[in-house]
Amino acid sequence: MTPAPLQVEGLAKRYGDNTVFENVSMTVSAGEFVAIVGDSGVGKSTLLNCMAGLDHWSAGQVRLQGQDLGPLPDDARALLRRRHVGFVFQAFHVLPHLDVAQNVALPLMLLGTPDPGRVQAMLEAVGLAGLEARLPQQLSGGQLQRVAIERALVHRPGLLLADEPTGNLDPGTAQRVMDALCAQSRAAASALVLVTHSEAAAARADRVLRLTAAGMAPA
Ligand SMILES: Nc1ncnc2c1ncn2[C@@H]1O[C@H](COP(=O)(O)OP(=O)(O)OP(=O)(O)O)[C@@H](O)[C@H]1O
Ligand SMILES: [Mg+2]
Repeated sequence: MTPAPLQVEGLAKRYGDNTVFENVSMTVSAGEFVAIVGDSGVGKSTLLNCMAGLDHWSAGQVRLQGQDLGPLPDDARALLRRRHVGFVFQAFHVLPHLDVAQNVALPLMLLGTPDPGRVQAMLEAVGLAGLEARLPQQLSGGQLQRVAIERALVHRPGLLLADEPTGNLDPGTAQRVMDALCAQSRAAASALVLVTHSEAAAARADRVLRLTAAGMAPA
């Protein structure tokens, strides 16, 4: 049986005596779309970073594609992340000196499997055809966020983690970015974990979970 893209078991994050969250357990199945909601400061971004092995936790376990991240050194985590995870940050994090096509192609370049046709098809699918040679500073917020989404999905990761990807956008643009995110993650057969404050975005999910200091529960 193929392992679930993501399994979190009894996860806790503390800074000294200060507990951000504890007892967080959840499993995300292949192709599933799970939304995570919760109050500001409860630790949603921290949790997403732990899921990607970008942050360290105080107790519990994170498994990506069945692989326990805990004992892995940072370079091994990076390799696992590169192959299996896409990450959409709230603040885009596109590389300013690479053009649109180069930004989207980056994960494939890092994996040694360049595929210009795939990059082109993905840009076309989200209405970015013709903008390949633009630099990020020459794009709108909604266009930038679509570049970030395509970059996160271009290598068809088993798991896409998205941290409030529509947080900085007007409602109309936010809806179009969510359309792109849902359609493209489905097309890549990627499981999607979306952190959001938007009820409209959460309503599209297969399941909505609420993070509190005491753990994770159905919303
Ligand atoms: N170095 C640190 N020391 C102590 N506490 C910290 C540190 N870094 C972050 N925190 C705390 O961790 C908590 C979780 O922050 P996080 O950014 O994950 O929240 P969030 O749920 O994503 O909030 P938002 O909805 O506003 O994005 C916050 O309460 C923050 O104050
Ligand atoms: Mg956050």
